[in-house]
Amino acid sequence: MILVTGGAGFIGSNFVLDWLAQSNEPVVNLDKLTYAGNRRNLASLDGDARHVFVQGDIGDSALVARLLAEYRPRAVINFAAESHVDRSIHGADDFIQTNVVGTFHLLEAVRAHWGHLPAAERASFRFLHVSTDEVYGSLAPDAPAFTEDHVYEPNSPYSASKAASDHLVRAWHHTHGLPVLTTNCSNNYGPYHFPEKLIPLMIVNALAGKPLPVYGDGQQVRDWLYVGDHCSAIRRVLEAGRVGETYNVGGWNEQPNLAIVHTICRLLDELRPSAEGSYARLVTHVKDRPGHDRRYAIDARKIERELGWRPAETFETGIRKTVQWYLDHADWVAEVQSGSYRDWVQTQYGAAA
Ligand code: NAD
Ligand code: DAU
Repeated sequence: MILVTGGAGFIGSNFVLDWLAQSNEPVVNLDKLTYAGNRRNLASLDGDARHVFVQGDIGDSALVARLLAEYRPRAVINFAAESHVDRSIHGADDFIQTNVVGTFHLLEAVRAHWGHLPAAERASFRFLHVSTDEVYGSLAPDAPAFTEDHVYEPNSPYSASKAASDHLVRAWHHTHGLPVLTTNCSNNYGPYHFPEKLIPLMIVNALAGKPLPVYGDGQQVRDWLYVGDHCSAIRRVLEAGRVGETYNVGGWNEQPNLAIVHTICRLLDELRPSAEGSYARLVTHVKDRPGHDRRYAIDARKIERELGWRPAETFETGIRKTVQWYLDHADWVAEVQSGSYRDWVQTQYGAAA
């Protein structure tokens, strides 16, 4: 049994679905169901006894303690977070509460549980913290990619809150001996990505004939990784990562935002041509994001060398699958855009929800 937090969000739900597609080891999924959590992502697991969903907060120590005592997971994988940089600029409260205070309470509850396990269970137990490349700050155009030794220089309220959580995880290992692993991954994309982030926003806006808002000059560079590859990296680190280590995860695919947007337009022109002409006509430059990081790039040689992990998808295969997924799941997009996905639990389960 493993305990996953934030497993109704974008990466967490992909992880849970992939995990149960590949093994029979059950998952307890603790998720607060903020605006970013969507039970619909996990609808294919309805009635599957291997998946136990619990709505709750990682900061609720009593609840976490109860789940740990009841299910005795061999590992906790912490995806739960506020994750959107733009929202953190408008208001950072939830970011501090969940990413910093919530991670602290989660670590404390896990430490108390782990400290009382029999020796063999204690030795094999793992706490895997899912983090981001944004903690390293911004790179000059010709600077080498981030290694695990890169200095922490977070620039946004979001990345500062994730950096704080990484430091807490590190300290709980160093001081208390908690067997932790941390992954720092680049930008993910793929199915169930909430359409407030660049790639899904561009797809759904283009299909609706709305402007495609590119911040500033659109030359900010990100490294993009297909979400299924992030999930396989996490599984591999959980399986064989060295306790106390951090592992960078990336796709070897650095691209400026504008190039990403034009690739999406080209794919839509091919797969769902518009009578009005190329979707590229909708590209609109808008005011830049305050404090916008110019470039992220991941040096993923450590995870390749030590654990033999490499991404299975290229950007070309991954982005085509992703655009096709959004074309095939107009109902999911409509529910997210109308907000009705938040009523889904009630509709589906009624009073038993
Ligand atoms: P997301 O915003 O899509 O999902 C976050 C999930 O966490 C949601 O289901 C939400 O309901 C849940 N949650 C939020 N606060 C909670 C709390 N207090 N208690 C329990 N659950 C809570 O995020 P995502 O994009 O899937 O990212 C998942 C993790 O991966 C985050 O930690 C993020 O920092 C990290 N990460 C994301 C990316 C990316 O490109 N999206 C890249 C690298 C790392
Ligand atoms: O690098 C990993 C991080 O990637 C994760 O830790 C975050 O959780 C995740 O949200 C993501 O952060 P970004 O800020 O890079 O992602 P976002 O999709 O918001 O933006 C990607 C780039 O596109 C960024 O340079 C801002 C730009 N952008 C974004 C939006 C939403 C636009 O130009 N227009 C937009 O409308």
